[in-house]
Amino acid sequence: MTRTGVYPGSFDPLTKGHEDLIHRSLGFLDKLVVAVAVNVGKQPLFSLDERVAMIRETVQDPKVDVQSFDGLLVDFARKIGATVIVRGLRAVSDFEYEFQMALMNRHLAPKLETIFLVPAFDLTYLSSSLVREVARFGGDVSGLVHPVVQAALRKKLGR
Ligand code: COA
Repeated sequence: MTRTGVYPGSFDPLTKGHEDLIHRSLGFLDKLVVAVAVNVGKQPLFSLDERVAMIRETVQDPKVDVQSFDGLLVDFARKIGATVIVRGLRAVSDFEYEFQMALMNRHLAPKLETIFLVPAFDLTYLSSSLVREVARFGGDVSGLVHPVVQAALRKKLGR
């Protein structure tokens, strides 16, 4: 049986923290679908298609597929045959929100399990909005994102 997981998020943009989680989850999954969400509550810097293309270029692994989705995560997970949702827990501050989401997803799809992974210690402070802010003001993001993402940020922000 193929064990498929889904790793959902906004990925605006993908950071080394996300990459770390993707590689860690491949240790126990046969296939991972990185699911780029249309998040109505956020004003993204990169379009959905740009984010999908950037992740595909960055994570070139035959076990990883990248798709965008709209609507409920549980419906998307069912559609692609995923049995596991992968999420990262960077700090205690992530916990309440993640706990709520995991319980709601379980309410909606009882057989779909959420698995929390802890990212590498030196990446726990990372977030996409911090990366965007540093890049916007000309700071060095080379240690925080893949060169593909760095180039996309430079182009998008006109630097
Ligand atoms: N490394 C670095 N940064 C990380 C990270 C990691 N390992 N894990 C999370 N982050 C950051 C993200 O970059 C993002 O930063 P930002 O807010 O500064 O942009 C932040 O943490 C939030 O992470 P993200 O994964 O993008 O979460 P989200 O809250 O935007 O996405 C969805 C949540 C998309 C998974 C959720 O809204 C969803 O499932 N939506 C679909 C609709 C649905 O089913 N709703 C019901 C859910 S119960």
